[in-house]
Amino acid sequence: MKVNKILVWDWPVRIGHWLLVGSFALAWLTSESETYRLVHAFAGGTVVGVVLFRLLWGMLGTRHARFVSFVRGPAAVKDYVIGLLKRNASQHAGHNAAGGWAIVALLGLGLLSGASGWLVYEDIGGEWVVDAHGALSSGMLTIAVLHVAGVVVSSLAHRENLVRAMLTGLKQGRADEAIASARPLVAVLMLGWVAACAWWLAR
Ligand code: HEM
Repeated sequence: MKVNKILVWDWPVRIGHWLLVGSFALAWLTSESETYRLVHAFAGGTVVGVVLFRLLWGMLGTRHARFVSFVRGPAAVKDYVIGLLKRNASQHAGHNAAGGWAIVALLGLGLLSGASGWLVYEDIGGEWVVDAHGALSSGMLTIAVLHVAGVVVSSLAHRENLVRAMLTGLKQGRADEAIASARPLVAVLMLGWVAACAWWLAR
């Protein structure tokens, strides 16, 4: 079958991704500041809102957004990594098997980091919660750095700009792998939900 540019990432996935990047960066940059405590809480609330939405969208969303389409077992991860090393990595319309686990880790850490941050903000739990919040957020930064490195390596291996694909939604693939709609209305609902979460957490 002919390989063409097809629609793979819907609007909620794309907007959610870049919102997560921006809010995580803002939360990180304001983490040590007393002056920007409210901004930090608002950014953290945005992270939590995006992650909660993404967990739901991972079950109800379009084909390549669903967890069942990209969370694979250790054998698939090993095959993909060996393929990469042999410069013969298998092409995926959605996320590859290795990247899929980085995504699961980022979503899990985003949720735990946000929840512990809320406890700190509300003065619940004491010093160990503060330490846990710092450790979870540093863990998330570490995985995010590995994730970006993985994106660069996969982009080079597949000769496809995956960052551009996360902006346009378009990737190389067979026509029968395309999603039918970019779901713009769901993206609008998601933005309302994320704004409510951010406001609620920082209020
Ligand atoms: C500027 C830095 C970043 C770039 C260029 C980038 C790029 C990308 C790309 C290209 C993908 C799709 C990978 C694929 O084709 O399989 C992706 C997915 C993802 N990235 Fe990033 N990323 C960045 C930072 C981050 C950060 C900081 C986080 C979390 C805090 C993050 C979380 C995710 C998640 C959760 C997905 C899965 C998207 C979904 O299926 O909803 N990324 N990223």
